[in-house]
Amino acid sequence: HGVSVVAVDGPAGSGKSSVSKAAARRLGFAYLDTGAAYRALAWHALDTAIDLDSADAVVASLHGFAYAISLDPADYGVRVGATDVTEAIREPRISEVVSKIARVPEVRGHLNTLFGGLIAGCGRPGIVVEGRDITTVVAPEAPVRILLTADEAVRLSRRSAELGGASAEALAQQLSARDRQDSKVVDFMTAADGVTTLDSTHLDFDQTVDAVVELVHRVV
Ligand code: C5P
Repeated sequence: HGVSVVAVDGPAGSGKSSVSKAAARRLGFAYLDTGAAYRALAWHALDTAIDLDSADAVVASLHGFAYAISLDPADYGVRVGATDVTEAIREPRISEVVSKIARVPEVRGHLNTLFGGLIAGCGRPGIVVEGRDITTVVAPEAPVRILLTADEAVRLSRRSAELGGASAEALAQQLSARDRQDSKVVDFMTAADGVTTLDSTHLDFDQTVDAVVELVHRVV
């Protein structure tokens, strides 16, 4: 009974999205990118020009927020209303403001309820759920809980390659600023009790996916 949840947390640029998606494909599991939901809400807030520094305005914006995400790791996509925002939510203008939204407790509560429904109704034997507070808040009872880390220099060079060689310095500042903001809200730099730390600093992409799949096969 129930859905086997694989919970994956980690900092920006740890590769958790691509690793989690690939692991889900290999396992035949669904895939949920919770950061995409925070990003989609940030997109919606910018689209409707609300004041991001006002927690009240951010909370009010939840009412008109019609969010849809595909849980199929082979066909990933995010929509807000009728708009496909899969690409748009990766833009720097979103990364720059998303932490302001994520720090509002009502936003976290609202999205967590949504995540609970998506997980329960995912229609597969398991789901890989990835974010910052999955191992601790969203799915603390998950049979597999992983903190995916990598040294900061490695995270930066991977993210910069992913973005087609964006200015390294600007990126470094943006990533560490975002991690600093996010760390005030959730601690995703240290593994909670019972969470396995997977350090990918010296692993390539396939080796990291292998390690995740192996951890899952040990338990599920
Ligand atoms: O994972 P990603 O970097 O795309 O997440 C975007 C932002 O969403 C994070 O910087 C953080 O502010 C927020 N987030 C969060 N809790 C999660 C996932 C993402 O606060 N579980």
